[in-house]
Amino acid sequence: MNILVTGGAGYIGSHTCVELLNNGHEVIVVDNLSNSKIEALDRVTKITGKEIKFYQIDLLDKVSLHKVFAQNEIDAVIHFAGLKAVGESVTLPLRYYQNNITGTLNLCEVMEHNGVYKMVFSSSATVYGLQETVPLTEDMPLQAINPYGRTKLMIEEILEDLNLSNKNWSIALLRYFNPVGAHHSGLIGEDPSGIPNNLVPYITQVAVGQLPKLNVYGGDYPTPDGTGVRDYIHVVDLAVGHIKALERIMMVNGVAAYNLGTGTGYSVLEVISTFERVIGKKIPYSVIERRPGDIAISYANPHKAKVELDWTSTKGLVQMCEDSWQWQVENPTGYERKDELNV
Ligand code: NAD
Ligand code: WQD
Repeated sequence: MNILVTGGAGYIGSHTCVELLNNGHEVIVVDNLSNSKIEALDRVTKITGKEIKFYQIDLLDKVSLHKVFAQNEIDAVIHFAGLKAVGESVTLPLRYYQNNITGTLNLCEVMEHNGVYKMVFSSSATVYGLQETVPLTEDMPLQAINPYGRTKLMIEEILEDLNLSNKNWSIALLRYFNPVGAHHSGLIGEDPSGIPNNLVPYITQVAVGQLPKLNVYGGDYPTPDGTGVRDYIHVVDLAVGHIKALERIMMVNGVAAYNLGTGTGYSVLEVISTFERVIGKKIPYSVIERRPGDIAISYANPHKAKVELDWTSTKGLVQMCEDSWQWQVENPTGYERKDELNV
């Protein structure tokens, strides 16, 4: 099939492009490169031996988006493009609503205009907000606690409304838990700009000597060791989940949400100690106060994805740490080529 991948140059998008190409699909990427580098797609070609058609386009530019659909016979869209930094969304809410919501509205309008009704959407476990119980199941009441989360929740609702208006729509809402790791080749991985917000890229940058030490946010949560518990999921498992979701939406119309997580929660201290074992050295850290907006425990019940998508995670925390480390060591400055740096 011909698959349009918005945000395909990004972290999860690039890994999904590999899986799409390896499964025999043609891939067309639309990305404005606001949080990614074109080098990622060159590396995808290096891994797969297959070319990607790339358009540097912003989803806010509807005219250019129409041209992409006019020039290509698109069967389905995997929609990753969006801004994702929770803290930044609190300070720049208009930017987040504009980019994520308007970008998605434009995409849906252009899809509908061109009779393309199949979409896999990148949602997030953030739509569960604060819950009383874990594991989290898809039918729990949803609630977002920051502008980023609200964009995901609103987009889920917009996509539900689209399906109500026209039953041709077939949409999978994939609620990712905490994506980490990198492709086993060491060629593609997460390349955060500036100081990482997320735990694993922060740890790898400390380990490689780019940052002095890790701050552990909160040691007084109601968890076994007092630190926050999350469901870390290997990005390649996540990418495979998109192929499974694509197969499903080609067969069944409607809107359905799926948790993509392992079903197991690990604390921050467990992630640190696993990482230390993998790399054979200590990670300096201090436990400081809680980070505002963080929850104590989040992990998935991934049963629905197993039953309906035939998807289950295969890679454990050790492999997540190994692959994140390999990517960091082989690409200490991410995709930035040495000649682009002023060194
Ligand atoms: P990423 O930033 O690496 O990738 C997003 C891509 O979208 C980037 O390449 C960026 O340049 C592009 N983009 C952003 N706005 C655009 C626009 N208006 N037009 C065209 N391109 C645009 O992020 P990621 O980690 O790969 O996340 C992909 C998706 O998954 C996002 O929607 C994110 O919200 C969601 N998600 C991510 C996580 C996570 O922890 N990484 C967790 C849950 C959900
Ligand atoms: C994990 C744990 C922190 C950094 C975020 C978004 C969520 C989703 C995934 C997009 C927590 C602790 C972290 C650090 C730390 N993204 N931590 N020191 O917050 O679970 O989820 O990314 O949809 O919406 O909120 O991920 O990796 O930031 O944190 O102690 O320097 O590590 O407190 O317990 P989080 P994270």
